[in-house]
Order: sequence, then structure tokens, then C-alpha cells
Amino acid sequence: MDDLTGLTRLVVGGAAPSLDSPSSRARGLGREAADLLGQVPLFATLSRRHLGRIAGAATTKRFAAGSPLVRVGKPADAFYVILDGTARVEVPGRPVTLEAGDFFGEMAVLDGEPRSATVTAVSEVLVLMIPRAKFLKVLESEPKIALAIMATLTQRLRAVQAAVGR
Ligand code: CMP
Repeated sequence: MDDLTGLTRLVVGGAAPSLDSPSSRARGLGREAADLLGQVPLFATLSRRHLGRIAGAATTKRFAAGSPLVRVGKPADAFYVILDGTARVEVPGRPVTLEAGDFFGEMAVLDGEPRSATVTAVSEVLVLMIPRAKFLKVLESEPKIALAIMATLTQRLRAVQAAVGR
């Protein structure tokens, strides 16, 4: 992913409380969070108005190290972006590490099937959660985000191909 030093500093430093307050978890993030979302590489092309709409639908959640963020086989209700911390996709034989700015949960959100893998918090992790229906609407209206998701899916497929020797 791109340089996320600024995002990490903002989230870990001054702005984390507003992103992770009880009110943000209950009612979606406030508009003041739009600037922060704009620093997530996936959302960098969105207008401030659109960032504000996503912020209004999104919530944050903090997970303790070792806890599952999503579980294999469970239904998908949201798409996730890691705002802080490190997580691991439990792919048999070759776990994949995800860091701040990386996303997960797109597969089951896109195809409506159950989660394809368990994702576990390696450190304490702060995630942004966008409800499935809202995220599908974002993809319909923002081709650049859809393309970015497709590019990452393609990279992940290539990595799997490389791991099994093609
Ligand atoms: P989803 O199936 O919704 O939930 C588990 C997530 O783990 C999945 O979406 C992807 O975001 C991620 N994932 C699954 N397999 C891989 C892989 N091989 N490489 C990287 N990420 C993966």
C-alpha cells in the first residue's frame, strides 16, 4: 500500500478518539472523519461530499490482539479497512499479513457467499466497517474504487497461483 504514515499518525495520535468513540460506533462517523477517510488510499479519489456520505454510514471497531475480525463460513455484513494495527488472513499454508490502509472482507460482500477465510488480529486492531449494502452502492457509483478492489483481488489471486506453483 501507499505511504500511510500520515494516516497512522492521525489515527494513533490526535484523531483516534473521534473515530473510535462510543457515538461513532453507534451512529456512524461524523463528517469531521471525512478528511481521515480521504487518507485511506482506497478512498483517495473520492470527493469530500462522498467521503462524508461514507463516513456517515461507517463505524469503527477495536479488536484485541488474537481475536477474530471475521470468521470463515459466516455471512458477510460489512467491508473492512484497517485503520491501525496488523491482521492475518488465515489462508492454509500461507497466512497473509494486512496492515493499516489494507482492506478485507470484499469477497463475501461481492459474491454473497460466506466468508472465505478467518482474519485474526495480530496486534490490537482498529477497523473501519462499511455495511455491505452501502459499500455495494459505493462500488456502483465509483468505478475507480471498483477498479482498485479488482486490482487487489487480482494481486491476491496471483499470489495464490504463485504459492501453488500455477
Ligand atoms: P471475505 O471472504 O469476505 O472474508 C475473508 C477475507 O480474507 C476475504 O474476504 C479477503 O478479503 C481475505 N482473503 C481471503 N483469501 C485471501 C488471500 N488468499 N489473500 C489475501 N486475502 C485473502
